Amino acid sequence: MPTVQLTTTKTNQKQSKSIGNSSNVIKKTNKNVSQFTNFQFKQCKSISNPHSIHGIYPYRGKISAIDAQQTIKQFTKGATLLDPFCGSGTIVYEGMNNGLNTIGVDLNPIAIYLAKGKINVPRDVNEAICEAKLIIEKSKLLKNINPIDLAAAKHFESNTIKEIARVATFFENMTSYTKACFLGTIALTARGCNHYKWTSSTVGKDINPKRYINFYDKFIQKIKKHHFPVSKPNAQVIFGDARKLTKFIKPETVDFVFTSPPYFNCLDYTAYYAKIIYKILGYDRLTIKKSLIQTFKDYKTDMKKVLEELYKVCKKDAKIIFVVGDKKIHGKIINGGEFFNSISPFKNVQFIERSYSNSSSQIFDAINKTNRKEQIVIWKK
Ligand SMILES: C[S@@+](CC[C@H](N)C(=O)[O-])C[C@H]1O[C@@H](n2cnc3c(N)ncnc32)[C@H](O)[C@@H]1O
Repeated sequence: MPTVQLTTTKTNQKQSKSIGNSSNVIKKTNKNVSQFTNFQFKQCKSISNPHSIHGIYPYRGKISAIDAQQTIKQFTKGATLLDPFCGSGTIVYEGMNNGLNTIGVDLNPIAIYLAKGKINVPRDVNEAICEAKLIIEKSKLLKNINPIDLAAAKHFESNTIKEIARVATFFENMTSYTKACFLGTIALTARGCNHYKWTSSTVGKDINPKRYINFYDKFIQKIKKHHFPVSKPNAQVIFGDARKLTKFIKPETVDFVFTSPPYFNCLDYTAYYAKIIYKILGYDRLTIKKSLIQTFKDYKTDMKKVLEELYKVCKKDAKIIFVVGDKKIHGKIINGGEFFNSISPFKNVQFIERSYSNSSSQIFDAINKTNRKEQIVIWKK
């Protein structure tokens, strides 16, 4: 992992400080901008690791596990780590795998299924395989299957979607890891039925004729492929609102917060594969979408609430790390570090800025002729 283009801040004075390079300057802060941690945030040469548990499902906005690991490894073992926007549970799993007591929170049901799956991996893979095989056998015997919404069914070959519908009948009774693998297999077979031609930005594109994919085989293969149990799991995943953390997390109990928050209206976490899955499982996607921090208009108010709640649940001296970035709106670049700094109740802040690399952000930048940066904001309570 080579280190490249790291920009860190090293000033201690209050009021009207400028930080960063000349093209990307943070001004007029009344916070204490200092370098109070020696955390390293190296830029990873490669962020792809499909042979890990995180390949279970292509969750939108998933943080790189390799990148997350290098940060988490610097946290004190046994400490409590909170990810208030845990998504598919990358940080929760990596925290737990590095001896931390981790808590993940999200308000998107798919995220919760995936994150719970990652923290409840059975020690013996045969447990999950036997469970899935039994479900498959029982599902084949079903006389009646619930019809699948046409908007979802159209993405699959007709026999593949029938197999999915059969197995879906047993979804509620599956154990957590099997549930996560089931959702991941739906995403995989949707792509497969469309000749594996969907890319991250063309999910849902109709490619005909659809190809038959044996859902049962893929389900078992997924269970085997992503089976990475953790020796001493110590984690919990909560379906809850990050704007109301004190409803379910005790005050002054958290040592580290590490998260990649939803970013303005950049990504819809209920779209793409999630849209297909919500139709199959019979969820009202739009209600879920509305419940999330998702609109540009309310973003500032919402994130201010989250930061105030984080302040309450954090212990004194806790470190709070947000991985954010530049956002281009109406031709103007909003600096994520500057934005978050202006709304946070934390008095001590440190910024680290780096270029995006090896990710879709880099491709978008090339297309849009932008050169956005990623900022890592660290606060100390
Ligand atoms: C950038 S994603 C996190 C991805 C995650 N790091 C991963 O690796 O999968 C942001 C997450 O914030 C969640 N979210 C949005 N509004 C929320 C809220 N009010 N409370 C909790 N989670 C919320 C979204 O559902 C989404 O999963």
